[in-house]
Amino acid sequence: MTKKRILSGMRPTGKLHLGHLAGALNNWIKLQDEYECFFMVADWHALMSEYENPENLKNNILDNVLDWLSCGIDPDKSVIFIQSQVPEHLELFFILSLITPLGLLERCPTYKEQLREVTNRTLSTYGFLGYPVLQAADILLYKAAAVPVGEDQLPHLELTRQIARKFNHLYAAKNEDFFPDPKALLTESPRLAGLDGRKMSKSYNNFISLSEEPEVIRKKIQNMFTDPLRIRLSDPGHPHKCSVFSYYSVFFPELKEGGEKRCSRSEIGCTDCKKELAAKIIGLLAPIQEKRRQLLKDKKYIQDILSAGKAKASRVASKTISEVKDLLKI
Ligand code: TRP
Repeated sequence: MTKKRILSGMRPTGKLHLGHLAGALNNWIKLQDEYECFFMVADWHALMSEYENPENLKNNILDNVLDWLSCGIDPDKSVIFIQSQVPEHLELFFILSLITPLGLLERCPTYKEQLREVTNRTLSTYGFLGYPVLQAADILLYKAAAVPVGEDQLPHLELTRQIARKFNHLYAAKNEDFFPDPKALLTESPRLAGLDGRKMSKSYNNFISLSEEPEVIRKKIQNMFTDPLRIRLSDPGHPHKCSVFSYYSVFFPELKEGGEKRCSRSEIGCTDCKKELAAKIIGLLAPIQEKRRQLLKDKKYIQDILSAGKAKASRVASKTISEVKDLLKI
């Protein structure tokens, strides 16, 4: 039986951190055996918001790919490629923009939220309004059956479905869906708390990066917020209100039950609990960091993976675009 195809992407806006591991990478790694996977560095999407300062883009792209490989994205199983190296993404982006109603984009909740929240960059541009249309092009170009994403991306997936249906309705032969309806494959643990209790994010500077030094990990974890109601060691803790405990749930589920008991029975204090967590996280990242060091010695290997990925992605992309052009009589 042929495997179903999935596609997902990440914007290369900085170093990857534990939030990416919990929210996306661990899921991608698991999906590699079950699906035909396309994993894409969404550099055009990054530029849509970072166009005023593109200096770090190239570095971030390679750095992210290194992290993907170090974590276990396997180039023998999955297609790993860079969006801007497959020009058909922009071609389909333009074609889909012809049929996308303006109101759908203006009402998109992620767009409204970003316009409201982001104050250090100008996002009221024509390009940024079209962000979800480019994402639809990414997905539809490969006729992906499903898209592994976190909950925050659901509005973009819904827009993709609406655009696909409209395209099919306008141009595809009767009763035949040219673009399939892509389903969301939701990540189980989509949100990891950051060091301050808010969502772990680069923009809040509350993250532990995948290449963080052990000493820095210890310090960062030691400064994490815990249960605010627990003041003395003898006060029983409330693990379900504690970010430190949530890390056990996400990364070390086998230790969850024991940790829960020790905390709520005051058998362990927050300082010791954080020391234990730091040691576990350092252990979790050690093999990833070791693999990264090995990969860094062989830049050509990374370039070869990316050229092979580009070739495989291009094969699918150019076929779809030529079919699309036929349907459009171009
Ligand atoms: N918008 C996605 C994010 O910020 C990244 C992305 C770009 C993506 N193209 C995609 C995700 C296609 C899934 C499918 O996380």
